Amino acid sequence: MDTLRRKTIILFPIPFQGHINPMLQLANILHTHGFKIIVIHTQYNSPNPSNHPHFTFSPIDDNGFSKIAEKLATNLDVTYLIRYLNENCVDPFRDCLAKLLLGDQESTIACVITDAIFYFTQAVADELKLPRLALRTSSMGCVLAYDALPFDSNKTCFCLTKEDSDYEVSVPEYPLLKFKDIMKITSNPQGMGDFVTNMFNQMKASSGIIWNTFKELEESDLETISQDFPTPSFTLGPFHKYFPASSSSLIEQDRTIISWLDKQPRKSVVYVSFGSVALITKSEFQEVAHGLANVGLPFLWVVRPGMVVGSEWLESLPENFQEKMGDRGRIVKWSPQQEVLTHPATGCFWTHNGWNSTLESICEGVPMICSPCFVDQPINARYVSDFWKIGVFLEDGFERMGIEMTIKRVMMDKEGDEIRERISYLKEKVNLSLDKGGSSFQSLNNLVDYISSF
Ligand code: UDX
Repeated sequence: MDTLRRKTIILFPIPFQGHINPMLQLANILHTHGFKIIVIHTQYNSPNPSNHPHFTFSPIDDNGFSKIAEKLATNLDVTYLIRYLNENCVDPFRDCLAKLLLGDQESTIACVITDAIFYFTQAVADELKLPRLALRTSSMGCVLAYDALPFDSNKTCFCLTKEDSDYEVSVPEYPLLKFKDIMKITSNPQGMGDFVTNMFNQMKASSGIIWNTFKELEESDLETISQDFPTPSFTLGPFHKYFPASSSSLIEQDRTIISWLDKQPRKSVVYVSFGSVALITKSEFQEVAHGLANVGLPFLWVVRPGMVVGSEWLESLPENFQEKMGDRGRIVKWSPQQEVLTHPATGCFWTHNGWNSTLESICEGVPMICSPCFVDQPINARYVSDFWKIGVFLEDGFERMGIEMTIKRVMMDKEGDEIRERISYLKEKVNLSLDKGGSSFQSLNNLVDYISSF
């Protein structure tokens, strides 16, 4: 422990909630194993240092990224955001890292861990002769799907309409996915192809890849990953089981709902949240409201300010919606999600299938209703509904009848009981993997030893 204590790890997260959470959870995990932690971060979505007094924070200039992120908020081309960050953070990151290395008289900086999406950081780390580990915050299945999909060669398949005969057909390169799924991944296949190539090349060039997943969940994909990415892989997730996400939350979590949940019957509440970046239209928002009203169950609905395109918050709700729902439904701006999923009253999670939300639901054995929006979410959703069979896909968007039927399938039908059984089994597997001698426990020890050896 004494030798470890002198070693420092520098981390650099992508500045979005779904990436900051796992990176800071990993920082906490490594801190409890004796490492000192420095977090380099952009000005945009900067973490609150007072929530992490045991870390040192080093902000860098991101060349006005907040304006870019805001402008794109209504027409999100994720690949543009990624390219902007990778092109504009090079010099500030290199300067910051070089300064930290210079100030490190005893050469105790062991390595830098950066989000895999920050592919530019590999060249900087090589230049400064510092080992770099890549943190991939998505599933392994997502990486394999990205690797297989024809982003560069067959762009037409990314812009089909419902009328096209291929719309419902499986994609030959990755048969778990349908053509209608891959269209959601990106509106810019060329940009996505470039991003994926850059990210994968630099993951392969790294000293190792850390995954927020656990072996038993993705065992078959892990084998393929080990062949495709010959650098050491560490599967020590799910990170939030070691440390909750609340301390890295960028929005204040409304904890008043816990006492409301306490009053609801066991497994009766439909929890609805589409994460930190997904957007929905006014008409979709209204269909969600009608669907929740018609199904007749208690619900907890997270509506992030700005999530409904063209509205600040709840202006587009159907007339007198909240009055009509009374105490049956609660709407909040942001919830303490992990606590909600752990709560005995929560019966299902209607989610956009961001990877953190998907893992959090699996860990608490809560069946999912899948409404993916973009990037990795459609892939996660197909794994949940068609591969692990621990949720139901709300096919073809938001429409009140479809919503009501899908919620009933999960909450009231035999199908829901079977889903609950399968996801409870995975929950047990997670717990076993984290126990002494389990796969995640072992992988964490391997990672600590590996970093200590630098
Ligand atoms: C983004 C991408 O959209 C997602 O596809 C990718 O897998 C990770 O990065 P996001 O959309 O925010 O993430 O979704 P998700 O990965 O689910 O992360 C959201 C995090 O915010 C979770 O840790 C969740 O617990 C937390 N959260 C969400 C809250 O604390 N309160 C809420 O009300 C909603």
